Amino acid sequence: MGIKPDKSKAKNCIRDFDKFCKKFQYEPFERQKEFHESDAKYRLFGGAAGPGKTKALLYEAIYQAHLYPGIDTLLLRRTFPELEASLITYFRRDVPRELYEKYNEAKHIVTWLNGSTTRFAYCDNENDVYRYQGAEYLFIGLDELTHFTLKQWQFLTSRLRCRIGGSKPCMAGATNPGNIGHAWVKALWVDRAPAPGMERPDQYDPGDYQFIHATIADNPHYADDDGYKKTLGQLPEALRRAFLHGEWDVYAGQYFDVFKAERHTIRAEQVQLEAWTPRWISIDWGFEHPSAVYWHATRADGSVVTYREFVQNHLSPRMLAAAIAERSVDRLNGAERIRDIFLSPDAFAQRTADASIAEQLGDGLAAAGLPRPTPADNDRVGGWMLMYQALEADHWVIADNCTRLIENLPTLTRDPENVEDTLKCDGDDPADAARYGLKSALDPGRAPADVVAAERVTAVDPTSRAIWMKKFFAEETRRVAPVLPRRWRPQGR
Ligand SMILES: Nc1ncnc2c1ncn2[C@@H]1O[C@H](COP(=O)(O)OP(=O)(O)O)[C@@H](O)[C@H]1O
Ligand SMILES: [Mg+2]
Repeated sequence: MGIKPDKSKAKNCIRDFDKFCKKFQYEPFERQKEFHESDAKYRLFGGAAGPGKTKALLYEAIYQAHLYPGIDTLLLRRTFPELEASLITYFRRDVPRELYEKYNEAKHIVTWLNGSTTRFAYCDNENDVYRYQGAEYLFIGLDELTHFTLKQWQFLTSRLRCRIGGSKPCMAGATNPGNIGHAWVKALWVDRAPAPGMERPDQYDPGDYQFIHATIADNPHYADDDGYKKTLGQLPEALRRAFLHGEWDVYAGQYFDVFKAERHTIRAEQVQLEAWTPRWISIDWGFEHPSAVYWHATRADGSVVTYREFVQNHLSPRMLAAAIAERSVDRLNGAERIRDIFLSPDAFAQRTADASIAEQLGDGLAAAGLPRPTPADNDRVGGWMLMYQALEADHWVIADNCTRLIENLPTLTRDPENVEDTLKCDGDDPADAARYGLKSALDPGRAPADVVAAERVTAVDPTSRAIWMKKFFAEETRRVAPVLPRRWRPQGR
C-alpha cells in the first residue's frame, strides 16, 4: 500500500530551507548551515562540545519531516533522561505550538501540520533498536553518536526507507569524540575507512559519509563565554582537547591502548552470575569529587567481570553505604553475597568527628549485612599493569552499564614523568576505583584470610565480634578463589 498524497497536507510541506528557517524562527549558525546543506547519506556533525549539534539535529529532523506529507522521522539518544534533557527540552522550548498538530506525551511523537511525524526515542539496551523493526524513516538522527554501538547504527540504517519517489532517506549523527563508539565513528567519518567489525567492509563507500567539523568557537553564544570555556579548560587534557577542539586523535600517549569497547564490554543483560559466584566491591571515596563504586565477580572461566557502577558526589559515608547496600541485589538471586569491599586507603585516614570515613562507611555496610571495608591496594603502577594485562588476555570485561568507566579508561594517558604510571587528573575516579577492585582482589600475593578477617572484623564488643568472625569464615570457606592464568600474572610474583 503506497502513501496517498493528501492535498491539504501537502500544502503544509516546505521544501525551501530558508523559508523553513523563517517559519520555524531558526537561525542556523554558519557551521550548522553547512550541516543542513550537506547531501551526504550519512552526515556527522560536530567534534567538540557546544557548537549547536543537538539543536541542528532537531531542526534537520523537522525540516526533513516537512519535505513530504505523512512521512516519519526519528531522533535518538542513548537514554531517556538524556533524551528528555536535550532534544525534547529544545523541542518544547523552541518550537512554537501553532507549528505542529499535536505532541503525544506518552509516545514522544510530534505530528506536524503536514501529517509527518518526528519521534523522540532512546536505546538504553543494545536490543532496544529492534523496537523500530517494522518502521520506515526518511530521516534518523542520533545525538551523541559515540554512545551507540556499530551494531545499533547498522540496524538503524536498514530502517531508512521512503516510498515516495525521488526522496533521499538519510541519517545524521552529532557527537563529541570519546566513549564506547569512538573507534567506529572515527573510522567511518574521520579516517574514512570501514569500521572494525563492520558486516560488509567491501561495501563501504566513503562518498556516503561527510564529517562537518565544528568547535565551540562556531557557536557565537559561547565564543565570548569565558566561564564555559574555563569549565571545559579544567577538564583532563585528553577530554579538554576532545571537547574544546573536537580532536579525534587525542588518545596518543594513551595508557589503555588495548581497550576496545567491542572487545572488552558486554551487555549488562548478558552478565549472568550464579548466587555463589564470588563477588566483591571496590570504592574510591570522594565527597567533592564523586565516590566511584564498582561491583566485580569471577566468572566460571576465571575471568573477571565488572558488572555494576555507581558514581556520585556529595554523599556522606552513611548515605554511600545505603546506596551500595540498596544496589547489591541480584535480579534473580536477591541480596548478593559480597566477599570483600576494598576502599581507597585515604578513607581510613580521613576523619570527620571521631570516626574515620572508613569506620562510618563500615558501620553502614555492616548494618546492611555487608562486609566492612578493607584498605585497597594502592600500588598504582602495579594496578594499571594488572588491568592492562587482564584486558590484553581477555580476562577482564566490563558491562556496558558501567558507562563512566568505559568513558574514563580510554582517556587515561601516560605520565611523562613516570611512563609506567598514568597522569593523575580530575575525573579519573572510575578508573581508580576499578583499579582498587582488580589489584586488591586479584593479586596472588594478598593476605591470608585470617589476617584479612582480623583487619576487617573491627566490631569492638566481643559478642558481635564473634558473630562477625563466624560469618566471615563461613563465607571464606565457601568462596572460590579467582583462577588466574599464569600468562597474565604480573611478573615476579
Ligand atoms: N542556531 C541557534 N540559534 C540560537 N541558539 C542556538 C542555536 N544553536 C544552538 N543554540 C543554543 O546553544 C546552546 C548549545 O547548543 P547545543 O545544540 O546543545 O550544543 P551541542 O549539542 O553542540 O553541545 C543551546 O542552548 C542551544 O539552544
Ligand atoms: Mg548536544
